[in-house]
Amino acid sequence: MPELKYDLQIKFGSEYGEEEKAAMLDVLAHGAPTSGDACVAFEKAFAEYCGVKYARCTSNGTASLFLSMLGIGIGPGDWVITTPLTWIATAAAAVVLGARIDFVDVDPETYNIDPRRIAEAVRPHTKAIVPVHMYGQCCDMEPILAIARKYRLHVIEDACHTVGGQYRGRKAGSMGTTGCFSFHEQKNMSTLGEGGMVVTDDAAVMERMALYRSHCTRVYGQSTKYCSLDEERFPQGKRFWFQDFDDCGYNYRMTDVQAAVGLVQLRKLDALNHRRIDNAAYLTAGLKDVPGLKLPSVAEGNKHVFHLYPVLIDPAAFGRSKDDFVYDMLHQRGIKVGTHYIPLHWTTAFQSRGYQKGMFPVADRLGESIVTLPINPRQTRQALDYLIESVRAMYRG
Ligand SMILES: Cc1ncc(COP(=O)(O)O)c(C=O)c1O
Repeated sequence: MPELKYDLQIKFGSEYGEEEKAAMLDVLAHGAPTSGDACVAFEKAFAEYCGVKYARCTSNGTASLFLSMLGIGIGPGDWVITTPLTWIATAAAAVVLGARIDFVDVDPETYNIDPRRIAEAVRPHTKAIVPVHMYGQCCDMEPILAIARKYRLHVIEDACHTVGGQYRGRKAGSMGTTGCFSFHEQKNMSTLGEGGMVVTDDAAVMERMALYRSHCTRVYGQSTKYCSLDEERFPQGKRFWFQDFDDCGYNYRMTDVQAAVGLVQLRKLDALNHRRIDNAAYLTAGLKDVPGLKLPSVAEGNKHVFHLYPVLIDPAAFGRSKDDFVYDMLHQRGIKVGTHYIPLHWTTAFQSRGYQKGMFPVADRLGESIVTLPINPRQTRQALDYLIESVRAMYRG
């Protein structure tokens, strides 16, 4: 296998610089608490960025999804509608809480859940729709929100791929009951490899999410009703207090070191996203005439922030199957191509829950043919030229 080339790997989506280092050292100098002032500042800045009232830092995007489900009261007997073309965390959050999943096939152009098929999947016990803004592009939210209003369903936006993306001027994550974000190392901004955020405009939902995020703790002062939802945030000077637990919850907190880095990353986010958008445009210009490849398209009114660059391969026209392409790009060219995602109804986890291959024709076709080319804000023109030349060589070869 040749040496891995340039920055042409899926790993490490974002980049850190001196500002992140300085922010970390500052938190270290203040004892590096779990969720302290830096978390509060990051939450405030993130809520403002998204245009929502409330935001809470979490340990990862999966935790944000769990907290959203808990926030709206998902449990046994409930059904949740989502896409089969996503990372398992989207559906697992509902399943682990005892709910069941109705998958709805995806749109053949955007690869996001197809709003035209959602209404027919609604049942008497459906409680939520979870649209996933895949690859950096928002779902077609207007019809999804209209269906949710009609059937009184919650919408939990999985915006883990799409921080900073927009739909008709509205930020990803700000349109549903809650919005969930991931700051994993591969995402458009990162908080030291893991991290997440959950946002909402609903005060009652936020209170439940904040409770479950930190063991459902409430701290009662001697005379006040309660001081804080989080044990780290006691108001100073209360001498008599006791701690109670409303329910059994989780520890889904972020640390202050991560939040301090997150604040810096948030300030850079739009610039980082624009480098991704430029890189995607460069790839599209370099590959658009290659037979047998379907390149990503951007729906009107969307700001696509290209977390990934999905390409469909038609083996007959391209002369190579998806599997051969992924193998040969790595072994002949030193480039790691992704396969995001294997549709969830193909997995053991969902086949054991009654799903089978072939049930969702568009997602099935994508599962057979989708690859994701490496894209990140650090890529040089030299690296992109090598990537384009390598893909073209796969066609000719
Ligand atoms: C669509 C989607 N949802 C949720 C998650 C979960 O995020 P995390 O890895 O931060 O738990 C991911 C992670 O890759 C994802 O891609």
